[in-house]
Amino acid sequence: MTEEFGEQGPGGSDSTPGQDPVTPASDATSGDGPLSTGPEVPGERGFPQESALPPQAGDDSGTGAAADVSRETQAGSQPFTVRTAEDIAVAAPDLTHDHGTPLARAAEHIVLARHGARMRPALPRPDRTRVFVVANQKGGVGKTTSTVNVAAALAQLGQRVLVVDLDPQGNASTALGVEHHRGVASTYDALVDGVPLAEIASVSPEAGTLTVVPATIDLAGAEIELVSVVARESRLHKAIHGHPQVGTAAELGEDKIDYVFIDCPPSLGLLTLNALVAGSEMMIPIQAEYYALEGLGQLLETVEMVRAHLNPALEVSTIMVTMYDARTRLAAGVAEEVREHFGDQVLKTTIPRSVRVSEAPSYGQTVMTYDPGSPGALSYLEAAREIATKGASA
Ligand SMILES: Nc1ncnc2c1ncn2[C@@H]1O[C@H](COP(=O)(O)OP(=O)(O)OP(=O)(O)O)[C@@H](O)[C@H]1O
Ligand SMILES: [Mg+2]
Repeated sequence: MTEEFGEQGPGGSDSTPGQDPVTPASDATSGDGPLSTGPEVPGERGFPQESALPPQAGDDSGTGAAADVSRETQAGSQPFTVRTAEDIAVAAPDLTHDHGTPLARAAEHIVLARHGARMRPALPRPDRTRVFVVANQKGGVGKTTSTVNVAAALAQLGQRVLVVDLDPQGNASTALGVEHHRGVASTYDALVDGVPLAEIASVSPEAGTLTVVPATIDLAGAEIELVSVVARESRLHKAIHGHPQVGTAAELGEDKIDYVFIDCPPSLGLLTLNALVAGSEMMIPIQAEYYALEGLGQLLETVEMVRAHLNPALEVSTIMVTMYDARTRLAAGVAEEVREHFGDQVLKTTIPRSVRVSEAPSYGQTVMTYDPGSPGALSYLEAAREIATKGASA
């Protein structure tokens, strides 16, 4: 039984880590009974290595005159049977009626992606520019990934978006395909020398309505250089609110930038402080892993201090659970804990852990253009919609 299933293995997507949420369902529907992906399936390394080649070689050599017969036809002569939709309906009526299975959702997603956003009603543009600070001093939780993908998704949905890369690592600039080597005008120039953002921003190849203020490594020195500057914590506020396209629809009409996203570095230093003073909303990505909530208390205390002394308008409007692995109980547990803590602030959409999401930046792209039909891209699209709709009703 295990061997027979092994033949299905190489073709099944279970051995492809990038296709996460879809896999279990596709296997479950093609096999006999409860084809548990649990204890029978060895770890990622063992599975493809043990079962990939030998059974296939046997298949080919043994077919003889029937060499041109399709694999499906051959499967009939195998000890396992291929079940029809009817068989499945009898054996597991729930499966055929549950549109919420990962397989059904993935199929729906692909259809949606193919037809694009046009199938859905257009997103309303906000009355005034919404400035989001994407922050969490914990490193590697998905700040940059969420910034660039939500920004690209909103731009695809017809919004005008500006991304300010406030991290000297310049990861957001890379993912959005804009130059950020030394010498390029960057956030540093805006903060330290007061150069207008509109002069520095360039259009991202991701979308015509998405502009980016890149970060260069110079920004690493800005925290120290700013110490002696007057009103050092409100330099970014001045830069963003001095942008001629930031403001209300009444003043600016069509030209208004709808969303500004500030991608913060993993620290609570002067750069992040500048972002907290400049923004009106915060988006906190939380990785669905152990320790996820550690450090959040300190972040929220900082937000409280900023609200009390520097920016009373700041609110934590959006918490996003990222790198969610539906196969682990840990992820579900963390997501639940986050929801218990933060309630409505948490987006209903969680972002799955997906190889496509992490591959995209190496092509200078977001996953929204790199693989628009992938679960990661569709989740970011859904998250972007949620953000836009929540803000409209607030
Ligand atoms: N949904 C996802 N699925 C798979 N990998 C992801 C996902 N989201 C982020 N990653 C990967 O996790 C790593 C950290 O993500 P990211 O750079 O967005 O975090 P960050 O919070 O901005 O990090 P830093 O604190 O260094 O700025 C990256 O390698 C990224 O490709
Ligand atoms: Mg980052």
